[in-house]
Amino acid sequence: MRRPYGRSAGYYDAIYSERVDYDGDVEYLAKVFKTYAMGKPKRILDLGAGTCTHAVLLAKSGMQVDAVDVSEALLDVAEAKVKGEGVAKKVHLHRMDMTKKLPEGEFDAAISMFGAWCYLRTDEEASRMLSMLSRRLPIGGLFVFEFWSPLGWNPQNRWDEADLSDGSRVLRLTRPNLELKDDVYEFEMEHVVVKDGQLLADFSEVHGLRLRTPFQTRALLQRNGFEVVAMTKGAREGKSFEPPGPNEFRVMAIAKRA
Ligand SMILES: C[S@@+](CC[C@H](N)C(=O)[O-])C[C@H]1O[C@@H](n2cnc3c(N)ncnc32)[C@H](O)[C@@H]1O
Repeated sequence: MRRPYGRSAGYYDAIYSERVDYDGDVEYLAKVFKTYAMGKPKRILDLGAGTCTHAVLLAKSGMQVDAVDVSEALLDVAEAKVKGEGVAKKVHLHRMDMTKKLPEGEFDAAISMFGAWCYLRTDEEASRMLSMLSRRLPIGGLFVFEFWSPLGWNPQNRWDEADLSDGSRVLRLTRPNLELKDDVYEFEMEHVVVKDGQLLADFSEVHGLRLRTPFQTRALLQRNGFEVVAMTKGAREGKSFEPPGPNEFRVMAIAKRA
């Protein structure tokens, strides 16, 4: 099995720093907290934090962030980033599988950005995580996360290219598996890395994301001690408070601990 975010970890930021609007996401989160939280969160849990780009921006805005990720390779990138950005004291990294364990302590709010939640492929896994999370948040504490819905599923091949600081270039082809089995969207990402006409690396990874409709997501949250306060469009570039359309693929859920 080619594990997600193993070899690809070193290319994650090169590909996504342009494709994901991290500043826009953090502005959206600030608006969510201002509108729905009981006060500005001071201590926040970032689940599936990846290379910690959100976590660094949140730390710079004054928050203490506990960042959880299962990929050691991505956390290595995150560690260098939080040190380089001077926020190592404000971002604590935890290598954990969020379906099994979460950091101890109480948090004011939790987030899970850019589809990290969708890696919880079964309702049992998602429920286990939610039940642990409900014990880390106060009543009314927010969990803000992005999920992907089968209602907007429109799989296509996708081509990405990005330059790395060492002069190499990564080329990536994403090929969806067109069979949606048990609402899991599987796709293979083939990577090629080249420099000066030489092939440096060539590997692929298989990812599987569980798609849930807004209705299924709401019911799952309710069964596990959370109440949805709003759902909004989860566009990769520039999230807003607009409600999701009927065929939306990316949706943001704003839930609070009941
Ligand atoms: C698409 S990336 C999003 C990363 C980051 N939130 C961002 O916005 O760039 C999904 C992340 O979820 C993490 N992940 C997947 N399953 C996980 C699990 N069971 N526990 C913790 N992290 C997990 C992956 O390692 C990856 O970093």
